[in-house]
Amino acid sequence: MRAKIVAGNWKMNKTLTETNALLAELSGKLPDTDAEVMVAPTYVNLAAAVEDVKSSTIQVIAQNMHFADNGAYTGEISADMLLDIGINTVIIGHSERRAYFGETDEILAKKVIKALEKNLRVVFCFGEELEDRKSDNHFNIVASQLKNALFNLKPEAWSNIVLAYEPVWAIGTGETASPEQAQEMHAFIRKTIADEYTTEIAEAVSILYGGSVKPANAKEIFSKADVDGGLIGGAALKADDFIAIIDAI
Ligand code: G3P
Repeated sequence: MRAKIVAGNWKMNKTLTETNALLAELSGKLPDTDAEVMVAPTYVNLAAAVEDVKSSTIQVIAQNMHFADNGAYTGEISADMLLDIGINTVIIGHSERRAYFGETDEILAKKVIKALEKNLRVVFCFGEELEDRKSDNHFNIVASQLKNALFNLKPEAWSNIVLAYEPVWAIGTGETASPEQAQEMHAFIRKTIADEYTTEIAEAVSILYGGSVKPANAKEIFSKADVDGGLIGGAALKADDFIAIIDAI
């Protein structure tokens, strides 16, 4: 049975004081759930966040990492630095990293390889742009993102991969993909993996949907057979909204 996951990608939000306050509220209100609940604060607040949630089931994860072990990479963070403060899962390939920081499929493949080498669990993000969907090229784009960054992996590596399909046109826009659109793409993703590897591997991979998930739409999106949870942006920054989304899975 693949994991159900609700992860909050906080992006560049919340000071240390605000991080402590939000995590105290989330820890106090967390419902009983068989879903994994993850939060991704900014780098500078990760260690404090790990401490904040140590008596809860909330997992603290990183928003990114570099593919090098160490060296002259100003502003970057290594896998070992994350592991050293108790981080065991990292988001890789978010569309904002691709768009603003020039992260190509090739760079992301190196990051994934390094993360898995260090036994970090990877939440790998991908998704098409609006013009790709409008030109009916979205399946090709998604397939190439998967193949270029992940299809070099050995079969056993997939046990440490979580996928997050995030259509770029839905991120931060309020234009959520319909539950049917999400299901259609998630089923395509699962079949693409099955064709490259095995049905067993494809069926075991959790595929999250991200892009304007809100309390009002989460239940219907999460009800789809190939949707295993969500990667939440804006709605993760308010305790009651994030809790409502967790309740929806
Ligand atoms: O990584 C999740 C994020 O990109 C989705 O953002 O604000 O549309 O939920 P949002």
